[in-house]
Amino acid sequence: MAFPTETVYGLGACALEPEAVAAIFAVKGRPSTDPLIVHVADISGARVLTTHWDERAEKLAQRFWPGPLTLVLPKASFVPDEVTAGRGTVAIRVPAHKVAHGLLVLAGVPVAAPSANRFGRISPTTADAVEAELAGAYDLLLDAGPTDVGVESTVLDLTGDIPVLLRPGGVTSDEIEAEIGRIEVPERRSQQESVPAAAPGQFLRHYSPATPLVVVSGSSDLLTRTLEALQRRGIDVGVVDLPDDPGEAARALYTRLRAADGTASLLLIGEVDARGLGLAVNDRIYRASQGNTVIECDERTLDRIAHLVRTS
Ligand code: TXA
Ligand code: MG
Repeated sequence: MAFPTETVYGLGACALEPEAVAAIFAVKGRPSTDPLIVHVADISGARVLTTHWDERAEKLAQRFWPGPLTLVLPKASFVPDEVTAGRGTVAIRVPAHKVAHGLLVLAGVPVAAPSANRFGRISPTTADAVEAELAGAYDLLLDAGPTDVGVESTVLDLTGDIPVLLRPGGVTSDEIEAEIGRIEVPERRSQQESVPAAAPGQFLRHYSPATPLVVVSGSSDLLTRTLEALQRRGIDVGVVDLPDDPGEAARALYTRLRAADGTASLLLIGEVDARGLGLAVNDRIYRASQGNTVIECDERTLDRIAHLVRTS
């Protein structure tokens, strides 16, 4: 079934039933090597899923749950390999949305749920977007209107001595560090690097519209100049405009990307201010663009973008 959380809509099934979990992978077209997040109603539901609930997990759970933080911890043996992609760890979160919470309480089981989109595509923040993505390939869709946060939960790996930020999201790294001290924030991988990702789910192509997307890094002036230069080359360019406030930008991001998809031959989007949720927004647009970034509006850059449009 598809249901709202405070971040994005999820496609859920009982996490303890391998066949139900397999159906999620099938509907999304998701590789079985990419593990799912398990959603539970409260902290006690989370503790039983792991063999090692330490002080850091307790502090973070007390501070941020229910809410957009996912903790990766050593898994209890009864958590199926299908959920964790054969890993010894499980990702757990307690969502804050009242519909998600009610569902988890009524279900009485942990619910495995990825975002309710086809693999690699834009995450859904409305019930309409779920329908557009999955075309009814679920038994039930709970519509509670647009989600509040707009980008996915923060994923934090607590299995090592130093916690590692696997995905920036609804809770910022500053907020986490204020609670448990320093965490490691890995550099984002550039397009050229082909080293296998240390963590699953770090695919560069992710959250993507069908129309090629290019991120303009820096000033809005650079965006205008790039837009005009591309138009002079006869390219039909659309601009995805985001609010200045990082929280507002997060809320608007996926709806605006979805609305812009297919309306031009190329989409430009400006990076947002990297404060607060801005880090998560910039992470998503970078992946949505598959690392296609403009830092300078020179002939080489324009050639590269023109080539991208021709070959898409
Ligand atoms: O906000 C969210 O987290 C949404 C809502 C529905 O809760 N869910 C979501 O799920 O974004 P999904 O499947 O789209 O993203 C889950 C991320 C993936 O990057 C996956 O690789 C990572 O969490 N993940 C899951 N289990 C993991 C594990 N054991 N170790 C490392 N990363 C894991
Ligand atoms: Mg997803």
